[in-house]
Amino acid sequence: MLTAISRYGARVLPNTQQIIAGCHARGEFITGPQIGQFEAAFAERAGVAPPQAVAASYARMAFYYVLKALDLPLGSEIVFPALTFWVMPELARVAGLKVVFADVDSATFNLSPTALERAITPATRAVVPTHLYGLPCDMDAIMSIARLHDLRVIEDCAHAVGATFDRKPVGTFGDAGIFSFQTLKPLNCYGGGLALVRDPEVAAYVRSLAESEPWPGEKRVNNRLLVGRLQRIFIKPWVFTISAFPILWISSLIGANPDVYLWEHIRSLDPLPEAYRERFPNVQAAIGLAALDKLDEWTAATRRHVQLMDRTLGRLPGIQVPQVPERRTHVYYQYCVFGPKRDELVVQCVKRGIDVETLHVDVCSDMDLFAGSKVVPPGALGARRAAGAMQIPVYSSLTDEEAERVARVVRDVLAHA
Ligand SMILES: Cc1ncc(COP(=O)(O)O)c(C=O)c1O
Repeated sequence: MLTAISRYGARVLPNTQQIIAGCHARGEFITGPQIGQFEAAFAERAGVAPPQAVAASYARMAFYYVLKALDLPLGSEIVFPALTFWVMPELARVAGLKVVFADVDSATFNLSPTALERAITPATRAVVPTHLYGLPCDMDAIMSIARLHDLRVIEDCAHAVGATFDRKPVGTFGDAGIFSFQTLKPLNCYGGGLALVRDPEVAAYVRSLAESEPWPGEKRVNNRLLVGRLQRIFIKPWVFTISAFPILWISSLIGANPDVYLWEHIRSLDPLPEAYRERFPNVQAAIGLAALDKLDEWTAATRRHVQLMDRTLGRLPGIQVPQVPERRTHVYYQYCVFGPKRDELVVQCVKRGIDVETLHVDVCSDMDLFAGSKVVPPGALGARRAAGAMQIPVYSSLTDEEAERVARVVRDVLAHA
């Protein structure tokens, strides 16, 4: 039987179970020295001082603490790209700020410096450049605009650990950089996040907020690791073929979109959900610490698959593969392709066993949740166009054979479009 290939692949350490057992055996499952070691190792890779890396329960909570620690006046404006994960602008609102959306460049999926400049008013105090899908924003242009208007810059690096602009890691340009360690993210700790913070005083405040949360219970962390393990098993090609894939296959035939059930329910986050409020446990830090050693290897494997896709798909007429502007390195959390009649192409790929995703984040400027927020320019056409791409699997856990099959199927489907 032909196996199906999932849109997602988790980066998993072969010795995950030993790391977990080791933490249990040492009595360091929840608290322990690996948290500090992980923060220090993460900071060292980025070339900053260890106290300036603060681990948290989620990237979104690290972001929330940074907003609080920067002490932005209530009601001041913060600019987000129109295409991003809805939770981030929502948390800015919970922190008492007014959200403004600036359009993205549909070729890079990233915040357009021109739109940012036009979005600034006397009330603007901060901007969140999101290095979407693993490609750094134009940090030269964004930092000069921020300096000119005295804006705080909080880089959203949830997709982009390891990516660089002018050889400098993302997350080290602005006042802070936020990273996510969810199961499917480039650095998988089965959840968690981290803030790199430039100013030591602000970092100390962020730390005091993160450390004032309660520790999670052992059962809760065990469940999280179990869910991570099930997710991993679920996306193995043969399990995926007999489980989720039939649902996706039928959905693609009837035009349904089951993706909405995969993601967190869109809602107001005020008051902050109880589940967000906890500390980052030692066992997840121990996994992260070991995963940091493998990060470059995983990124290299992903890039090898990307080169194959570029070679196979890049010259097809009417097809646009990801563009990497000069001075940037891309880590390809997602590999986005534009082609004609996207939805039909996706159905054809799914019929041939390749699960293709159509949108990984949200056109926030079009969401009811943000109705009434200012959008610059109105309509955010770049974000809407960017939402028309499709995401082809290139993740590092694909074997070379699987990557070749993805490339072949997608090429054949695109060539017949
Ligand atoms: C662009 C972006 N920013 C931030 C986050 C938040 O990360 P976390 O789930 O760790 O809070 C995500 C999560 O998927 C994301 O996609």
